[in-house]
Amino acid sequence: MTQATLSLHDGDLALPVRTGTEQEVGIDITMLRGSTGAITLDPGYGNTGSCLSAITYIDGEAGVLRYRGYAIEDLASHASFVEVMYLLIHGELPSAAQLSSFKSQLSLHTLLHEDMKKFYEGFPPRAQPMSVLSAMVASLSTYYDAEDDLNFVRMLAKLKTIAAFSYKKSIGQPFIYPRNDLDFVEDFLHMMFAVPSERYEVSPVVRRTLDMLLILHADHEQNCSTSTVRMVGSSGADLFSTISTGISALSGPLHGGANTAVISMLRAIRADGADYGKYVAKAKDRSDPFRLMGFGHRVYKNFDPRARLIKAAADRLLEELDRTDPLLDIAKNLERVALEDEYFIKRRLYPNLDFYSGIVYRAMGLPTSMFTVLFALGRLPGWIAHYKEMRENRDRLHRPRQIYVGSTLRPYVPVSHR
Ligand code: ACO
Repeated sequence: MTQATLSLHDGDLALPVRTGTEQEVGIDITMLRGSTGAITLDPGYGNTGSCLSAITYIDGEAGVLRYRGYAIEDLASHASFVEVMYLLIHGELPSAAQLSSFKSQLSLHTLLHEDMKKFYEGFPPRAQPMSVLSAMVASLSTYYDAEDDLNFVRMLAKLKTIAAFSYKKSIGQPFIYPRNDLDFVEDFLHMMFAVPSERYEVSPVVRRTLDMLLILHADHEQNCSTSTVRMVGSSGADLFSTISTGISALSGPLHGGANTAVISMLRAIRADGADYGKYVAKAKDRSDPFRLMGFGHRVYKNFDPRARLIKAAADRLLEELDRTDPLLDIAKNLERVALEDEYFIKRRLYPNLDFYSGIVYRAMGLPTSMFTVLFALGRLPGWIAHYKEMRENRDRLHRPRQIYVGSTLRPYVPVSHR
């Protein structure tokens, strides 16, 4: 085994080096604190591997993303989201029999306990769908035993019902119940857009595109929300409580919330006369908090393969639906101007998954408030796969250290003397 040598306090420590199946190298520091008393400091964890994982491989330099060894481009063109769910969680693509039984399990568990509908009555009419989603998922833990093996399937089957009910609540329409004769994505679209008074036919092109988008969101190794899931799950918390924390982590604008922020930004640029140069200049200005939303990624430094697939999907969908979207033109022009700019070239900032996903959702008729909810729906199998892997590997309780930089010991001062 290769070793790395660390020199500290006049002594040398040999540290084992772990190499992954794709030749990624990690210095194993598990013995560091015990042997030297020192810890590593890596704010934001950009250099820290928190686990060994066999789920997803990313090469950020080469723009490679694979789930369980399968290229994202291959899965996006040939697989269904349900197959990808199975692949991520069980490690292999399902056989025909396994797929059929998985699909029927997913259909059998879509209903929510009727009492849960009352929770929606308590939320304010303009409640953020991501907050509702997180609260509703956490409340599932009050209905099911923590260690029930069916919980994975329950979670996968019910999230789309919870998501669609949140939307219906936000627009004051009656809930549309799940239908077992529809496939996963059709059922979701039906619950979102059908009303009791009219017949609703799911558009095949919308169904196909949404299925592919969910595949592209399905996992992304140790991103902020997945790391949250592994962190919370490592305490032994039940699946539903844990997934609800993943949803909360995803809601932020620097993570899953970026897809909503991109649309607001594109709208603002359009309203401001499409002055791309002005917004690129604002993004470059250190004294201005504005950033180009949907640009940049912690891992991808040349291109995000998902962004390429989504951009192509946006073009295809609008063409097939015979629609145009002025925001798509704004996005393409902004991308062109930014990619020619020295600031973005030097920092290797490219459009990420969120840059074009909002355009696709808009074309499907999905409201902006639901964009991050759709991200959560897509990311769910990834979160579950990591939760399952973490438990099977018997990961230790996640508990990082810190370097304390506060006051040293000082005496308590009574309030009358402060
Ligand atoms: N616009 C302008 N400048 C940027 C942007 C951006 N979108 N992203 C990074 N930079 C600059 C930073 O200011 C920094 O510049 P400096 O070196 O002069 O200080 C440099 O590029 C490096 O940026 P960091 O913030 O250190 O990179 P980090 O890896 O921490 O951040 C992140 C990645 C959060 C995605 C960042 O690029 C960002 O805020 N992007 C916009 C939000 C976004 O699109 N989020 C979605 C991410 S993908 C996802 O979660 C699905």
